[in-house]
Amino acid sequence: MTLQSLPTRLESGVWPPSARWMSADLRVGDVGLAEVAETYGTPLYVLDEAAVRDRCRAYLAAFGAGNVAYTGKALLTAGVANWIAAEGLGLYAGSAGEIRVALAGGTNPARIVLYGSAKTPEDLNTAYGARVGTIVAESMSDITRLAATAPRGQRVLLRVGGDGTAGLAAGTGELAAAVSRLAGQPGLRFAGLDCSIGHDIGHFRRYEQEIRRLADLCGRLRGVAVEQLNLGGGHSDHDFALDAFADRMRTTLRCAFAQHDVPIPRLTVSPGRAVVGRAGVTLYRVLTVTTSPDGHLTVTTDGGLTDCPAVECADRHRAMLIARRSVAPVVPATVLGRHNDPADVVVPAADLPADVHPGDLLAISATGAYHHARASNYHLVPRPPLLAVAGGRARLLIRRETQHDLLSRDCGR
Ligand SMILES: Cc1ncc(COP(=O)(O)O)c(C=O)c1O
Repeated sequence: MTLQSLPTRLESGVWPPSARWMSADLRVGDVGLAEVAETYGTPLYVLDEAAVRDRCRAYLAAFGAGNVAYTGKALLTAGVANWIAAEGLGLYAGSAGEIRVALAGGTNPARIVLYGSAKTPEDLNTAYGARVGTIVAESMSDITRLAATAPRGQRVLLRVGGDGTAGLAAGTGELAAAVSRLAGQPGLRFAGLDCSIGHDIGHFRRYEQEIRRLADLCGRLRGVAVEQLNLGGGHSDHDFALDAFADRMRTTLRCAFAQHDVPIPRLTVSPGRAVVGRAGVTLYRVLTVTTSPDGHLTVTTDGGLTDCPAVECADRHRAMLIARRSVAPVVPATVLGRHNDPADVVVPAADLPADVHPGDLLAISATGAYHHARASNYHLVPRPPLLAVAGGRARLLIRRETQHDLLSRDCGR
């Protein structure tokens, strides 16, 4: 089936805001993607620095200074951590590694929050050594461990679970027991509650329900001050009007807490994907093209599963032919990776010009979150570099992994 001719306008909400089609090439951060593909090779992750910084500013404008932390598991390098810190956000770190990279990027340790339902001794020791501001306790045994090992005065949030999410169960009284155990520890400071209700949530209702549930819980924790309530992340970057979201959450918070006659806590959020998802683009070189009798194309690329593992962002992935303008009709296509694996699908339902051929360059949208972060060495394929682009300049944040890197970890025969 033939669709209309090649789109000249970029679909809104999926490409970085700075993306422009100019002189037969896609430009991001005023940098030509064909040129960087030539210089740095493919596959290549490209990250629009201004897009990340703008998202940070939008979150701060909506929620206020001190009330936003970026969740680093979506994408963290020292460079990214530096932008986040410079924009004034705190950082949720889920491991010793994330703490170290955050510190390498200049993050103030007081603004780091260590979270995770299974913290290793190394995670905790790194957090203690760095004097991170806050640790999230997610189970009774976490509280016991923190009481025995954390530095005196350590600020602690309690993770509230529910609906299949990890954390302290509210309904069974476990949370109330956890609060009183924590409040009874002279060395620890109970600061409030933390939750994470899911990913890619496109409407406000789920968050409002969570605030009401937490207000109800706080109403039952008589005599214990809940200073902070972290509503987590999970925001779909597509459908979220941040100012309206923050207004609605604050109103819900005020009403719900007033109803239970308890002081209103400070509302904080910790988005991951919504800060970096749309800022990322991945570039691939086409390796093979096969055309089925009905004109459907199957296009393989030089990347795939190892660098594009994030299924939860798949609805925002679009494939675009870059580096040349085609006047061929646009036809349905499936974009695959290079791996011999049925899961190796980059874009299942793309629209590409019928004359796409080996050697062409493709750009895939919305790959900023959970792509670099989850990349693997399946098939012993080295991981791609990550390139920041801004104001017409490109700068490597992470270099390309080499065969030598992989072999150097192999202890030999
Ligand atoms: C407290 C908290 N905030 C935020 C996130 C990140 O979610 P997302 O990247 O969907 O915003 C998580 C992820 O589990 C989380 O635990």
